Amino acid sequence: MAPVTSLTASVHQRLATALSAALPEAGSVDPLLRRSDRADFQANGILALAKKAKANPRELATQVVAKVESGDLLKEIEVSGPGFLNITLTDGAITRNLAARYADADRLGVATADDPGTTVIDYAQPNVAKEMHVGHLRSAVIGDAVVQILEFTGETVVRRHHIGDWGTQFGMLIQYLLEHPHELDHKSDTEDTAASGEEAMSNLNRLYKASRALFDSDEEFKTRARRRVVDLQAGDPETLALWQRFVDESKIYFYSVFEKLDMEVRDPDIVGESGYNDMLDETCRLLEESGVAVRSEGALCVFFDDVKGPDGNPVPLIVQKSDGGYGYAATDLSAIRDRVFNLKANTLVYVVDARQSLHFKMVFETARRAGWLNDEDVTAYQLAFGTVLGKDGKPFKTREGETVRLQDLLDEAIDRATTVVREKAEKVGLSEREIVENGRYVGVGAVKYADLSTSAVRDYKFDLDQMVSLNGDTSVYLQYAYARIQSILRKAGEARPAAHAELELAPAERALGLHLDQFGESLAEVATSYEPHKLAAYLYKLATLLTTFYDQCQVLSDDNPTEVVENRLFLVDLTARTLHRGMGLLGIRTPERL
Ligand code: ARG
Repeated sequence: MAPVTSLTASVHQRLATALSAALPEAGSVDPLLRRSDRADFQANGILALAKKAKANPRELATQVVAKVESGDLLKEIEVSGPGFLNITLTDGAITRNLAARYADADRLGVATADDPGTTVIDYAQPNVAKEMHVGHLRSAVIGDAVVQILEFTGETVVRRHHIGDWGTQFGMLIQYLLEHPHELDHKSDTEDTAASGEEAMSNLNRLYKASRALFDSDEEFKTRARRRVVDLQAGDPETLALWQRFVDESKIYFYSVFEKLDMEVRDPDIVGESGYNDMLDETCRLLEESGVAVRSEGALCVFFDDVKGPDGNPVPLIVQKSDGGYGYAATDLSAIRDRVFNLKANTLVYVVDARQSLHFKMVFETARRAGWLNDEDVTAYQLAFGTVLGKDGKPFKTREGETVRLQDLLDEAIDRATTVVREKAEKVGLSEREIVENGRYVGVGAVKYADLSTSAVRDYKFDLDQMVSLNGDTSVYLQYAYARIQSILRKAGEARPAAHAELELAPAERALGLHLDQFGESLAEVATSYEPHKLAAYLYKLATLLTTFYDQCQVLSDDNPTEVVENRLFLVDLTARTLHRGMGLLGIRTPERL
């Protein structure tokens, strides 16, 4: 289905044409169109143009108005103030535009990007044998939304879950498991992913603590553990098999959390740090041969003019340690080579905690110097996110100061949401099964939305009371907006949604319609700036415009002529589809009855 040209784009086009006609020597000029409260749009571009052409702005504006071809798009254009244009559209143009969007049930008339490329996105990257924390939740939630949004714009997206599955700590863990072979066995034989996930994590936790204690107290164990690291790096089969058990066990746990989060993570997309082991030597060789990295006190280092420690001495990026070992940077540099040269990425996006920004700054700059990245067709971007804070404004921890277990946190959100859903359930006639399902969608949606509705770089407070509130900028407010429309559509009986372009529109209908028309442009902006919070803001605005519309316009009223009922049903149905689409892109469900 052909994309729908937005009203803004059409108005823009006509004004630009009129501007060039009025002042041919100016070339192509931007009329600087804005949504406005006084009319539908205001154009401010004439002021700057008049200044450049040394013309009187009001006179130029009047000439432009005379040249604009109104057709059936523009109802009124008037010159205002020092030379602005106030532009009002015809009601018919708005309705026809929305009808074209409505006919495209899948994309709502939204075009794909002009020149889509390939983006590799690195997100949802917990660490093997370690509990996930709220930071991993943020990476997963933001990353998943960006994946959906980019795919919707036509981008080819490759997902990479860069899990922490390599490092010296595995020597200790593997050695311990070798000496205590049954420590990772599952006692219960359950089909329930959540339950086996929890069991997996508690096994890993227990084993981690026990091996750590032994490592710290028993010198001989320490020696055996260190030797085990060497075996692991040398690829000894028995050692690798045990290492694999840790990875597999951890995946059971990760999947249980992702499933609870209602999020798809696919196995082939999990390429952890170990996945780049074969490339490390070559990465170092390339960097050293090209002079990008130099040996310093035995270590292979990259230096930067603007990266200095507190003592004023340069802090290098260490690609290879003096003992020959590779760390986080070597892996990330190898991953860049893989993503650029094998996966053919044009863009690399890393959804990672802002506290790792210096690391990525140095890694990206190193890759640029090596010629693996540039500033034009192969670029990298860290979508950095801030810290999750507790209600007290301090980093989110349990009262005992431990990391909050994600399952507990999600369970609590779901519990609270279920209470909210249950309160209204009788009136809506929900079955117990629906209450439980909606409780999940509302609870998980609340957690995701709270994360996605603030700009990612900012810290945000994890406040469940606020998150499941029915009023304000919350997912459940949006979910109710959607469900209420479905309820109206069910109550409509014989009346079906249908566009009637001949009808006059009330102000609240125009406002709603003009915002619906903006969906594609908002998405395009969100996709280029990687700012899902702007999509959340768009949807929230849509829901508030809908509330105003209900206040001012009855949909199913006996006093309304049939066409008005049909046209309003059509308007709310398009609103519902837009909400559904937009929320879906954020990874949030919209139950039909709530
Ligand atoms: N596993 C890391 C952590 O938990 C995040 C990995 C980020 N991605 C990367 N390519 N370094 O902090």
